[in-house]
Amino acid sequence: MLSRTAKATFYTMAGPLMKANGLLYRQFRAPRGGALRVHLGPGQKNYIDRWVNVDANMFTGKCDVWADLRDPLPFHSGTVTAMYSHHVIEHLPDLRRHFGEVHRCLKPGGIYRVAGPNGDSAIAKFLARDAAWFYDFPDNRRSIGGRFENFIFSRQEHVTILTWSYLEEIMTDAGFTDLRACKPIRETNYPELFADCLQKEWESDFETPHTLVIEAVRP
Ligand SMILES: C[S@@+](CC[C@H](N)C(=O)[O-])C[C@H]1O[C@@H](n2cnc3c(N)ncnc32)[C@H](O)[C@@H]1O
Repeated sequence: MLSRTAKATFYTMAGPLMKANGLLYRQFRAPRGGALRVHLGPGQKNYIDRWVNVDANMFTGKCDVWADLRDPLPFHSGTVTAMYSHHVIEHLPDLRRHFGEVHRCLKPGGIYRVAGPNGDSAIAKFLARDAAWFYDFPDNRRSIGGRFENFIFSRQEHVTILTWSYLEEIMTDAGFTDLRACKPIRETNYPELFADCLQKEWESDFETPHTLVIEAVRP
């Protein structure tokens, strides 16, 4: 895991290049038709074939478009059939802007499957003092408070807490409808779109999942 300083330095140095690359991709290469599916933040291991994978990390992972997700997304409006992100949006400083951008890019009837650390579950497990539910990542912590902090902020990598009600509020404000929570790995309302994505997900507790997954429609 890169230190916070190293990451900030990377984004400062590479930010203008990523912005230019995203603009060039959008202008000259982004598909305008077809069943375009976009995967935001595949990371080191989760590249999905036949999707357009977008990430800032092209050094230790694989992506198709090198771009900063804090910038406007490198796709034309109303051209994307399905958008997917898994453990990515908690890194983004402006979620309203993010959901607005995803909404802009999706076609009418397009779907966003979005997943991240489940704040509702973490709060329930913190109150139940169930230290075993929390991971030892990124830091090894003994106390329930330390483990909770580890999960929520992940060494200051995460900048927000994802709960159902908060996401419902900002996704609805962005114009999404038909929001539904899904179990990671096991559930999608759109298997024809997201079957490949389920295989990249992980979960060890389906009663109180570590990952909050929401699917929503851009009407
Ligand atoms: C925790 S990893 C998740 C990787 C994968 N989706 C998974 O579930 O294992 C977060 C990913 O989001 C990417 N990411 C975070 N912030 C980003 C940004 N502002 N622009 C582009 N990619 C970003 C990181 O480079 C990393 O690949």
